[in-house]
Amino acid sequence: MKKFAVLGHGVVGSGVVELFYKNKKSIEKKAGCEMDIKYILDLREFPQLSYADKFTKDFNVILNDNEVTAVAECMGGLEPAFTFVKACLEKGKSVSTSNKELVAEKGDILLAIAKEKNCNFFFEASVGGAIPIIRPLHKCLAANEITEVAGILNGTTNFILTKMYNDKMDFSCALKLAQELGYAEKDPTADVEGQDACRKICIISSLVFGKHVYPKSVYTKGISKVDLKDVDFANKMGYAVKLIASVKKLDNDKILPAVMPMMISFENIISHVDDVFNAVLVTGDGFDKTLFYGRGAGKLPTASAVLGDVIDSVKHDITVFSQSWESSSDDTFIAPISCFTAKWYMRVSAISSLPKEYDGSKLVADNGEISFITNEMTYENALKLSEKLSASALIPLLA
Ligand code: HSE
Repeated sequence: MKKFAVLGHGVVGSGVVELFYKNKKSIEKKAGCEMDIKYILDLREFPQLSYADKFTKDFNVILNDNEVTAVAECMGGLEPAFTFVKACLEKGKSVSTSNKELVAEKGDILLAIAKEKNCNFFFEASVGGAIPIIRPLHKCLAANEITEVAGILNGTTNFILTKMYNDKMDFSCALKLAQELGYAEKDPTADVEGQDACRKICIISSLVFGKHVYPKSVYTKGISKVDLKDVDFANKMGYAVKLIASVKKLDNDKILPAVMPMMISFENIISHVDDVFNAVLVTGDGFDKTLFYGRGAGKLPTASAVLGDVIDSVKHDITVFSQSWESSSDDTFIAPISCFTAKWYMRVSAISSLPKEYDGSKLVADNGEISFITNEMTYENALKLSEKLSASALIPLLA
């Protein structure tokens, strides 16, 4: 019998317990042994629950119980999650987490401890909710040089954008609904302003390129300044506006991670990824392109990924070496955002002639304003041009 503990009984933690007991028999079959939850850590009390006897408010009870060999951390936030996870790993207990902030800020430290103590720090649930993306990147696609990862990594903003554009729901109602459905972070600013997507692209970048990428090194712009007028103009030109998190390896071997609203052609399948769904497009030398798609947030989708990790930690008594990266003492391996190259959408007041940078494709003119697409250029040059034209909007296109 393998026993594990769940830290936190919020949206994700309660989902882990619910899904585990719903599918216990088949989970045990897949794990190859009997399993049970021994403790659930939470400061609140849940006397009405059938498993109320498993609750403890004392983390040390879990830490000092040698019968507990695996832990699911579902508390979120940096502290006390970091202290608790570090202590568990130091005792040789494997940890599975859904906590993006923890992995993005402290992943290198926790992975090193797991390696030293021959246990595992798993975080499949930290990126893309239910979508398997972490394991494919370091296992299934391990034979390739991965050159680019780009996609929709925040369910809340995708849900809000979809509700606003398709259902004409206003921003605050759409956000409230996302919160009610358990998609949003405790502080939804992290979703809306792009920090959540930033943490996820940091995790992907660190795993794919082997060095810890910290959120502070990544250019991040959320959706709060996206004007519905541009979404409408974009639609008329055959594009959807989505919050895209991406990382690319450049010719000089530096990497360029970024989070920003981007325009995606209706011919690209990602433009049709709506609601809480996430999609991650991975590019590599052997396989060309592979798309991962699924529910990116919510109670049971996230619990599914956490439990998958717990089952894996029960099956593996040794560290999974492929899932690791080095610490980084500086960010010189990260290129500045000024190098970001794309075609750009610009909206300007009606002008007598379009600039020579106009790419000659479709344009939209409406009510004294005109929107057009430029030739490919760096962010630095696009900014200069938009300043010269006093543009009201500047949005890159996803290639
Ligand atoms: N707030 C996050 C999102 C939860 O909306 O994607 C899943 O990480």
